Order: sequence, then C-alpha cells, then structure tokens
Amino acid sequence: MSIPTQPITLTVNGKATGPVQVPEGLMMIDFLHEYLGLTGSRLGCGQGVCHACVVIVDKPDGSSEEVRTCITGTNFFKDKKVRTIEGHAQRNEKGEVVALSPIQQKFLEHYSFQCGYCTPGFVNAATVLLENLKRQPIARAQLESTITAGLNDHICRCTGYVRYFEAVKEVVLQTPGLLKEGK
Ligand code: FES
Ligand code: FES
Repeated sequence: MSIPTQPITLTVNGKATGPVQVPEGLMMIDFLHEYLGLTGSRLGCGQGVCHACVVIVDKPDGSSEEVRTCITGTNFFKDKKVRTIEGHAQRNEKGEVVALSPIQQKFLEHYSFQCGYCTPGFVNAATVLLENLKRQPIARAQLESTITAGLNDHICRCTGYVRYFEAVKEVVLQTPGLLKEGK
C-alpha cells in the first residue's frame, strides 16, 4: 500500500517553492525540516501549546499572522507566502548573514534567551506584533498590555520572559510610527 501524496506550491522566505509531492497530512514542520532543510522552526510540545514552531503567513490584505506548524498540515500553506526564522536576517549574495532584524538584534543585546529553543517563535511573534503596530499604531498607555498579549502564547522554560518583553518594548519605542503621537 502506498501513502497518498499531494502537490504543494508556496512561497518560503520570498522564494517560489514547488510543486513538491508530499504525503497527505504531512505537518508543515516536517515539510520545512525534511524537504526544505529549514530546521530553525522548533518542535517543542508537538501539540499546539508552546508555539515554538510558529511561522509567519503573509495574508493578501497585507497583514501577517503566526501559524503553528506542528499541528497544521502542508495543505493549509498551499499557495501562501510563508516566512520562517531563516528569513529574518539580511544576507549577502553568498547567503551569509550580514545584519540581524531589529528584533533579533535586540534579543541578543538583552540576553533574552538561554538555550534558545523558544527563540525562533518569539522572533516571529514579536515581528508580527511590530507589523500589526505599523498598520495600527496604539497609544503609549497600551504598549505593555499589547506586548504581553502578543507574546503571551509562547512558552519559554529558561528565562522568565522579562528580557524578551523588555527587548520588544525597546524596539517599539525606538521605531518611529508604532505609537500614536502624544497619547
Ligand atoms: S511545537 Fe508547535 S506549539 Fe509546541
Ligand atoms: S530560552 Fe530556553 S526555552 Fe526559552
């Protein structure tokens, strides 16, 4: 008996990918790891709880969202635009990292992580949060609660979250246009 397969075509980190034949029901994290060699998305709980495995999906309306790849099959991502942790830093023509994203850089400066297993998920969550604020700036008074809500689903077993929180707050405060003027 052979396992039924289906073709998947999508865009990953700006690169057209596929069509690739994959087993029906293949979870996205396995596709990223085993078919594309993108192993930065972390398999933590495997049950949709810890959010270590999230990627970013760019939606046609210009908004972005996190999607858990351990509980979401490849079929969901068909023809979608996906960003993984490998797509955040700027790279030169040889593929070498030449600059981290502002969030990645600030996580480093704040020593936000220890083992780093949860970090790809936090980078994606914070990036989506920043992108939401670019589209819909908030009042300064809402900043702390908005960051808490944006990172809330992500579990870190090492650090206690404060350094992630402080790093994201600093990026928001240093990035023009994310907060409403004078509020
Ligand atoms: S590994 Fe996907 S939510 Fe934990
Ligand atoms: S830094 Fe180890 S789980 Fe978050």
